[in-house]
Amino acid sequence: MKKLENKVAVITGGTTGIGLAAARLFASEGAKVIVTGSNPKTLDVARAELAGVAEVVASDAGSAKDIAALVAHVTDKHGGVDVLFLNAGIAKFAPIGDLDESVFDELFRVNVKGPWLALKSFAPKLRRGGSVILNTSVVGNLGMAGSTAYAATKAAVRSFARTAAAELAGAGVRVNAVSPGPIETPIYGKMGMPAEALKGFAESITAQVPLSRFGRPEEIAKAALFLASDDASYITAEEIVVDGGLSNV
Ligand SMILES: NC(=O)c1ccc[n+]([C@@H]2O[C@H](COP(=O)([O-])OP(=O)(O)OC[C@H]3O[C@@H](n4cnc5c(N)ncnc54)[C@H](OP(=O)(O)O)[C@@H]3O)[C@@H](O)[C@H]2O)c1
Repeated sequence: MKKLENKVAVITGGTTGIGLAAARLFASEGAKVIVTGSNPKTLDVARAELAGVAEVVASDAGSAKDIAALVAHVTDKHGGVDVLFLNAGIAKFAPIGDLDESVFDELFRVNVKGPWLALKSFAPKLRRGGSVILNTSVVGNLGMAGSTAYAATKAAVRSFARTAAAELAGAGVRVNAVSPGPIETPIYGKMGMPAEALKGFAESITAQVPLSRFGRPEEIAKAALFLASDDASYITAEEIVVDGGLSNV
């Protein structure tokens, strides 16, 4: 028996990286998968890569109008939602003094307002037995230099998992978070760092990870699948850390 047979799964930010790996895994476990993204180029690539696997929908995670349209589209087509993986996110790192206010605002728009809008709009459509998974980050619990705004967005999302779990328990919906350590995805190439600086950044992080490597998107997707499935039927308001030991050793 597949773990998500006949389930409808929405994954925000499923065009690349962790969301893309989750889309493939959830579909292989029997789910009807809908993924979103905002960049027309990666949306096109994802449509080709996920043909026959998942539906790809253009939807800006931080736009209330786009999220309302996404909810209407998914519920018109499928009636409701069983699994909601709120994964869309962006990352920018700079010391406090160098971080532009506009970057701070965009981080909070996409990473915090985004999942809040999705929780608010999808909640009435989540079926009993459903599961919401929020993508946080180990930096939400660490004092990593350069991560003030990004880390704060992820700490906020960790908090959403607790409160939404309390609010949705009565409807039979579990809400949890998966907290990745450093995972090899395109997110690092979007941070605006010169190649040499990025290489140094990656090396210094790898040196701090007991398992001595970046994780793979599939390794986060597997934890998200666990939380999405009935294997995690007594787990709610929890955060599963998948970080090669970074935050505990
Ligand atoms: N990689 C890591 O080391 C790491 C560590 C901890 C946590 N995370 C978290 O994991 C999540 C996925 O990141 P990733 O590493 O897989 O990076 P990624 O490959 O850059 O994926 C990010 C996804 O989010 C989408 N996205 C970004 N802005 C969006 C917006 N405004 N509206 C809709 N979709 C949007 C992207 O699509 P478009 O480009 O098409 O918009 C893409 O599908 C993020 O929340 C990130 O913070 C990653």
